[in-house]
Amino acid sequence: MADLDDIRDGREYGVGVAQRTDGFFLKGSNNLDWGMKDRLSRIFNPATGRTVMLAFDHGFIMGPTSGVERIDLNIVPLIEYADCLMCARGVLRALVPPTCRKPVCLRSDAGTSILTELNHNVVIDIQDAVKLNASAIAVMVSVGDAATEAETVANLYQAVDAGQASGIPVMGVTAVGKDMARDARYFGLASRLCAENGANIVKTYYTEGFEKVVACCPVPIVIAGGKKLPELEALDLAYRAIQSGASGVDMGRNVFQSEKPAAMIQAVGAVVHQGLKPA
Ligand code: R5P
Repeated sequence: MADLDDIRDGREYGVGVAQRTDGFFLKGSNNLDWGMKDRLSRIFNPATGRTVMLAFDHGFIMGPTSGVERIDLNIVPLIEYADCLMCARGVLRALVPPTCRKPVCLRSDAGTSILTELNHNVVIDIQDAVKLNASAIAVMVSVGDAATEAETVANLYQAVDAGQASGIPVMGVTAVGKDMARDARYFGLASRLCAENGANIVKTYYTEGFEKVVACCPVPIVIAGGKKLPELEALDLAYRAIQSGASGVDMGRNVFQSEKPAAMIQAVGAVVHQGLKPA
């Protein structure tokens, strides 16, 4: 029951003091709705504007590749060091503790595996992402691959429509099309295409001239780690990407295939958030 007596009149109106209206810290995100910004603020640390996503969605196309054979043993101990988790829904439901309090970037397209031809995918129903409390959904786009370019761009478009309706940001994941040169021209085109189609985050690969890729992409870019490298090289890759303007990493194999994965992800975090130079 509301108290109807002793209703006190307000006194501190701050008349003459302009209302504080902050801009949003993430590139290209200022005009998004509150729910989108809230979710993005869980993925990207507002203090640094950057993120360390731990990617372990590899099994959905590769099966139990090295480092993700046992998510409970290999990945769960690393969760505390990640800013965001990227995985598919089956593993999320089966093995990721809902008590971990980490935002999830849900891998949201699925179809073909490494045994056939990759990227003939469909997008999962956004309602499942809502039920899983996803902070973002990730959809692959294979720019330059004649067999799958059109359907994967359509997948992105569909995901953006659904994400906008539910306040869930979309991460466009650039798959390198067959016969494409892995250079700044290609990654710049692929990243821009994702952003133009409405992606709120783009995941792509670092390359020489990456500052141009970042400059012409209107939303934050995170880089994938790619195949396992010696630890120092992987950290240097992350360092160069951050110095070129990347907003973080979405790294998998270079973390979970490391001899010391917990130390590795913490080192990646120091590079990403503190700008430390690997040596
Ligand atoms: C790419 O689509 C995969 O889904 C991985 O999430 C991504 O490549 C990041 O993992 P890694 O650092 O192992 O390349």
